[in-house]
Amino acid sequence: MDKIQINGGRPLQGSIKVSGAKNAALPLLAATILAPGTYTLHNVPDLRDTRTMLMLLQTLGASWERSGSSVQINTADLTGAEAPYDLVKTMRASVLVLGPLLTRAGCARVSLPGGCAIGARPINFHLRGFEQLGAVTRLESGYVEARVQDELTGNTVYFDIPSVTGTENVLMASVKATGVTTIRNAAKEPEVSNLVDMLTAMGAKIEGRNTDCLTVTGVTSLQATEATIIPDRIEAGTYAIAVGATGGELEITQCDPSHLPVLIEKLRAAGMEIATGKKSIIASCPVNSRGERCSLQAVNITTMPYPGFPTDLQAQFMALMIQCNGTSIIHETIFENRFMHVAELQRLGAKINIDGATAIVNGIARNNLFAAPMMATDLRASASLVVAGLAASGTTEITRIYHLERGYENMVEKLSQVGAKIKQVAG
Ligand code: EPZ
Repeated sequence: MDKIQINGGRPLQGSIKVSGAKNAALPLLAATILAPGTYTLHNVPDLRDTRTMLMLLQTLGASWERSGSSVQINTADLTGAEAPYDLVKTMRASVLVLGPLLTRAGCARVSLPGGCAIGARPINFHLRGFEQLGAVTRLESGYVEARVQDELTGNTVYFDIPSVTGTENVLMASVKATGVTTIRNAAKEPEVSNLVDMLTAMGAKIEGRNTDCLTVTGVTSLQATEATIIPDRIEAGTYAIAVGATGGELEITQCDPSHLPVLIEKLRAAGMEIATGKKSIIASCPVNSRGERCSLQAVNITTMPYPGFPTDLQAQFMALMIQCNGTSIIHETIFENRFMHVAELQRLGAKINIDGATAIVNGIARNNLFAAPMMATDLRASASLVVAGLAASGTTEITRIYHLERGYENMVEKLSQVGAKIKQVAG
């Protein structure tokens, strides 16, 4: 297995272009199941996860072709309605085909995704939503089977927790349901709004975009369409944090700063300079005459559903806070096991204590972080290790980087172009 080697302690300087959002590309790819035809999606990142979703669509009978960052998908001849375990186990977001298959075929059989490093990741809200729309679901031999009894019928679906893929799945099961569906406590992430825009372009009738209450009036037909994936706010945020850890200045282009309101506020509170344009962020952290990063201040964060601090940036932010003045309290409220990166960061000399869902980070002085071998455990934890490796003195090695390849397009190349001494080597 490949690993990444980083010779850290160098300021980042230059411009990085952000790719399309993984967590928008996955639901929008799944939405191509809803109606037969040829779809063109632009700004689709070429990632392990998007390749998995395209393989899954192919398993269901679709064909697709990539041309640069655009992908053409033809779902005229769907021949199957089953998402097999060997695909779903590598990407839990495969459950996003449940809603579209119920709408298109009236049935679906998808392997239960199982848990992952960061938590149990149940899909009970998804299944309850489908049942409230008139489907019957059952679990059998590790698969969830869903079948529409008579027809999908509009209803009120309430989410106990604003589940992102739960909202997306129920939305896709409701667009052709007879009558009106109201989704309450819906997730408001920009990726959900990107899906709402695509469904609307297909002919769906959806009100409440960007709010926690979506009202869907079922239609009788939908058409294939063209859509553009929004920029990846988590990728953009990761690079803004990285330049805080190393010092220097990065222009992060083709992003949407309005999708990162809380992160930008927290980075400014820590002492970074953040300037925003319509589609760019300039993040800088002054360095002294010896090229050493200025000291940043410790800042507290609590992860929350959008527009709160994103749980997908918690690990990366912690990698910044380990070298700050003071103590940072990091409270993770979304997932029950999202501190897998802590033990790895401690190997570099970080001073972190965990108390349940809270991590207490006692910042150490700049340059007191020393390289050590680390192992990636999940997608965002691996990004956290890269951020720490970029800051640490010496050469860091990170193994199991297939986690990173799931959600960051060309990260090694992008960082190399802005001064990082980073390379991927055969493991
Ligand atoms: C989406 O996961 C993202 N993935 C995650 O990004 C992200 O961390 C998460 O939303 C939160 O923002 C995609 O969009 C593909 P949830 P999702 O349903 O939809 C509980 C990354 O790194 N819950 O919003 O699976 C759940 O356990 C990934 O890119 C139930 O209890 O997350 C969690 O505690 C990681 N029952 C909370 O809700 C359910 O049926 C929020 O989860 C569904 C969720």
